[in-house]
Parts: sequence; structure tokens; C-alpha cells
Amino acid sequence: MANYQPQRGTYDAFYGDALNIEKITKVLKDIASSYAYYPIHTPIYESTELFTRSAGESSDIVTKEMFDFLDKGGRHISLRPEVTAGVMRAIVTNKLYATKDLPLKLQYFGPAFRYDRPQAGRYRQFNQFGVEQVGVTNAYEDAETIIMGYDCLKKLGFPHIILKINSIGDLESRANYKEALKEYFKDKIDNMCADCKHRFETNPLRILDCKVPSDQELVKDAPKMGNYLNEASQTRFDEVLSILDKAGVEYEVDPTLVRGLDYYSHVVFEFHFISNEGTNLGALGGGGHYDNLLKEVGGPKLSSVGFAFGIERLNSLLKEISPDTYEVEKLDAYLVTLGEVKEKAFEIATQLRRNNIDVDMGFASKSMKAQIKIALRKNAKYIVIIGEDEVKNDLYQLKNLETQEQVSLNVEQIINKLK
Ligand code: HAM
Repeated sequence: MANYQPQRGTYDAFYGDALNIEKITKVLKDIASSYAYYPIHTPIYESTELFTRSAGESSDIVTKEMFDFLDKGGRHISLRPEVTAGVMRAIVTNKLYATKDLPLKLQYFGPAFRYDRPQAGRYRQFNQFGVEQVGVTNAYEDAETIIMGYDCLKKLGFPHIILKINSIGDLESRANYKEALKEYFKDKIDNMCADCKHRFETNPLRILDCKVPSDQELVKDAPKMGNYLNEASQTRFDEVLSILDKAGVEYEVDPTLVRGLDYYSHVVFEFHFISNEGTNLGALGGGGHYDNLLKEVGGPKLSSVGFAFGIERLNSLLKEISPDTYEVEKLDAYLVTLGEVKEKAFEIATQLRRNNIDVDMGFASKSMKAQIKIALRKNAKYIVIIGEDEVKNDLYQLKNLETQEQVSLNVEQIINKLK
């Protein structure tokens, strides 16, 4: 007998989990729509080069986590490790940048794939909800994006949020800072992990993100980005922080926050949450400002800002915070049939459904008691009892399962009552 198991790092969601993932996504989509973000759908696989160029050769995503393969035509393809690069590619392909209404504001939801070591909050296939604003010119646009992310988490029910924020400055500031880091690490790097040795050559900024405890000790005394921001970068960062202050958004400036993708410049941020039980799944979401990504994939140079949430992390933590929201939605009514009445009952079910009443019924012959048990398991508020006499008189028993109150009504009256 075959015994198929889900692939490592993947999961099945059903009942409460699946419902909650849909509810979470709906809240996020509605908030983004209220900020005038339009949906965009892009393919889940693209050329591997799109991701290596955008995420950067030094990112973990490219060095270790790419889910890549050769297709039958010999093309090097990757399942998307994130959505931003594909959105940029789509903007170029479809010339969406050729509009008088910049910034473009786009929102997306869908799966992303990282060939990572599975652990709590870390899957190989997971879902991201994200937004991108393309063609931004002002600190307000950066701040608005962060405020929206913060408000999304509040609206979902997170009682408090740790918003970590930093500026990695413009190209000039970053070049100076990378020099300073190389100077600081040059006589330490031989004793650091293999990843850091690689990062030292490709992008020393990424050393700050190392999770190896002995390397983290060395990072503590490393030069701080804040001291290398040129005046324009510092002013820009101060403006963003001042807008967040006025909006009542609390944040922690974290000088070691550099993010795992190479395309950022200026402000970067991450949303974290640690539950009362101490569960910390890593960032719930993160993002930042980026200046060169659209150009890098063949479009004009337009500055952008965006972020993405990891839906599974939001779901696991919300489950811990408020387990009671994990109830299966109530059905308005379950139709209980007795005798040869299936045809009429099905007609009634269709009529109720076309009037936006949520109903269900079964087609196997079962006793009344068994059908009521099903109705209760399905969380039905009412049952409609349809027997041969009822059909003859065109009057049906509508019973409230909570109060046990029962009335005799025709279909139109049932519709009016249940609406
Ligand atoms: P990211 O920080 O790589 O950013 O991912 C965003 C979020 O996706 C993370 O904060 C986390 O919640 C979730 N996530 C990442 N990896 C996994 C995983 N293996 N399992 C479960 N959840 C995961 C980006 O992807 C950028 N594209 C965000 C962005 C948009 N920046 C600008 N615009």
C-alpha cells in the first residue's frame, strides 16, 4: 500500500487553520485596499537569474535556499523565494511604470519557497502577503508603508508589536560603512564561520545578521551604520522616524538590522512579536526601501518601498493569543429530510442558497436523530425539517437548535426569517 507523506517543510491546512488563514488574508487585503493598493498576481516560478540578481549573491536565499531546477527545455528555473522580484519583473514586462499616477501601489498574496531547514515558523513552502509602492519620492511614502504594516498587526489582534527599524543609507553611506566593517573584521574573519568568510568578500553588511553565537559576540563591537550615514541619508531617516512618532507608532532603532536581501537602501524594518508563553517565531514580516531593483531587472530607476508578512507565523501566534477565534463558522441551517422528499428538499436548499443563506443537507437516508447530530457538528443555527406531510402542505418545521423553539413556515417565510 502506498503511503504518501507531505514533502519536508510543507503542511496541510484544514478546518480552523485554513479558515483562519483565509480570515487573516482578508483582513490584510482589505486594509491594503483601503490604502489604494491594487492586487497583482505573478507566476510562482521565474528564471533563477531574476532571483540571484535581485536578492543578491551573498543572501542566504541565493546561497542555500533556492528551490531551483532545469525544466524540460534546459532553462534554469526557481520557485520564487519571495514575491518582490517577480512583481518588479511584471512591472517591466507590462510597462506598468508608464503611468502618470506614480507611485504604483500593488498588493499580493501567495506561496513562496525556500529550501531551508524546517523548524518552528520556518517552512519550505509558506505564504506571503505583501505590498510594494513603486516610484516613491518622499519619506511619507516609506512611513505610510510602515504604519500600514503596524496597523495590520493591531487589527489582527496582536496586543503589542516590536517594530525594529534601521537605515542602511544610500550607496555612498553603505560603501563607507562596508569599508569600516572590512577594516574591523579583517583580523577576526579567520576565526569566524564559513558563511561570514563568504560575506566578508561579497557583502560584509550581511555579517551583522550572523546567527552563530561566537560571531554575534564579535558583531557587538563592530562599527555602527548610524555613524556612517551621510547627511542626506540621516535626514531621510529622521523624517521617517518623525512621521512614525506623530502617528503614535512605537519602534526600536536597531543598528544591526540589515535584512536578508541585498536590494535595500535607506529605511529597513521588521515586525516581531513574543507571546506571553515566550514563543518567538522570528520576524512576522519585514521590508524596506529599495532604489535599484526595478532598474536591475530592466526598468527605469524608480525608488520603491514595501514589506511582506509570513502568513503561517501570523496564524500560529494568533492561535496562541486567541484560540477561541478558531471556531468553525456557523451554518444558517441544516435540512433534515424524512421519507421520499429529496427532490423537494434539494429545491429548497438551492432556493435558500440563492438567497445567500448558508445551508447544507445530506443525500444518504439517515434517521432524524443522526441528521440532527450532523447539524450540531456542523454548527447549524437552525434545522428545517422536511417530511412527506410538510411537502404536501408546503409548510416546513424551522427549529432553532439553541432555544429549541419550533415554527411552521413556508419557504418564503423561512427565507425572510433566516436572512
Ligand atoms: P523576508 O523578510 O525575506 O522579506 O520575508 C518576509 C516574511 O516572510 C518574514 O518576515 C517571515 O514572516 C516570512 N518568511 C520568510 N521565510 C519563511 C519561511 N521559511 N517560513 C515561513 N515564513 C517565512 C521578503 O520576502 C521581502 N520580499 C519583503 C519586501 C517586500 N521587501 C520589500 N518589499
